[in-house]
Amino acid sequence: MLLGTQRINAQGHLEIGGCDTVALAREFGTPLYVMDEALLRANCRAYKRAFADRYPENDIIYAGKAFLCTAMCALLAEEEMCLDVASAGELHTALMAGFPPERIFMHGNNKSRAELEMALDARVHRIIVDNELELEMLIALAKERDRQVDVLFRITPGIDPHTHARIRTGQVDTKFGFEVPNGQAARVIERAIAHPNLNVRGIHFHVGSQLLDLEAHRQAIEIAVELLAQFREDIGYVAEELDIGGGLGIRYLSSHEPPSIASYADVVVGTLDRCLKEHNLPRPRLLQEPGRSIVGEAGTTLYTIGPVKEIPGVRTYVVVDGGLSDNPRPALYDAVYEVLVANKANQPADLTVTVAGKHCETDTLFQDVRVARPEPGDILAVQSTGAYNYAMASNYNRFTHPMVVLVHNGQADVIVERQTLEDLVRHDVMPARLARPK
Ligand code: LLP
Repeated sequence: MLLGTQRINAQGHLEIGGCDTVALAREFGTPLYVMDEALLRANCRAYKRAFADRYPENDIIYAGKAFLCTAMCALLAEEEMCLDVASAGELHTALMAGFPPERIFMHGNNKSRAELEMALDARVHRIIVDNELELEMLIALAKERDRQVDVLFRITPGIDPHTHARIRTGQVDTKFGFEVPNGQAARVIERAIAHPNLNVRGIHFHVGSQLLDLEAHRQAIEIAVELLAQFREDIGYVAEELDIGGGLGIRYLSSHEPPSIASYADVVVGTLDRCLKEHNLPRPRLLQEPGRSIVGEAGTTLYTIGPVKEIPGVRTYVVVDGGLSDNPRPALYDAVYEVLVANKANQPADLTVTVAGKHCETDTLFQDVRVARPEPGDILAVQSTGAYNYAMASNYNRFTHPMVVLVHNGQADVIVERQTLEDLVRHDVMPARLARPK
């Protein structure tokens, strides 16, 4: 499978954004995350286009947790996207990049007082309230500032989406949000609507991630609209906004067939309009928070192949110069990926191998994948690593975080520098009584 601007060039190498990946690996070193700018922008535009026609009163809010750095914020601002941040760090990144605060939505299921203050003082567009503790804190901070704060409330619709257990969030048994099925959501939100320091704009849900069917979205929208109808019935309140979170899946394997953005938009808008009509409610502003489906397929990881260990009758291990620290997803979610030998991209992938990392444990990355015969020094390209890879990178074994380059029309720009060994010890503190002469 070739995604976005990926193609095989005359040398038989994988090319992305007009850049030869083998040359990128040589110039910048590996592991290297390569982001395809054209695909990234195309995905933002596909969302905008799909909803502009069907439901013009909408905002597309990129979920920064999937991949964020200052250049990404700048690109999102150029594409006139909004941004969902879920921590002080994500908010700081956005503000440092000059991303307009009036397009920022602040999330988090245990926002600290400092995070709430930061969001208020930056004048972010909306704060999405997750729980009562946070609500009390927010009200107190709003009173201190003599302000009215624009909020959405995160609800838990109580449905079970079909995806990996660790990325499921719509079911009753979740740490997130206010429960709809037991009446908690209605009780808390109706009280908040009456509060002079809060301007409750509407409700939010996020049911899960990497969803390859649209059933969960359909069910959650039905439940959310019923709740909106109940608000009007109980207290005459008509919500202005409905935020349906993210979750649309992407292609990790050529056999994966995620719904297109257009068919997703058909289901969302079709369901929403049908439910609104049933309850005779006006269209709220439709907000959504795609992360993975904007950046996932736009990212490729390049590794250099080291030892190739053939265990006759068992398997062949291909060891790369990264692993768990730059891609924890196979270990966490049994995630699968497609790989190819970037400098042998035109050769038949006729060997089955298992790719492992270089951490001091069994960090199998990709089990039983088909590749062209790999040799030490070859470059291995892993597709669809744009979402939750750099974002979840760690320093395990004191590995440095890889570099990120943005490629476009034959140009490669570094957007995140590779960490240095110096960076690794920067935060270490040596008590005087332990200091040794150097
Ligand atoms: N909005 C909220 C409130 C979320 O919690 C998330 C993802 C999104 C939007 C974006 O969802 P997306 O469109 O990317 O599916 N680390 C996991 C994924 C965790 C997703 C967490 N929330 C992984 O690597 O699969």
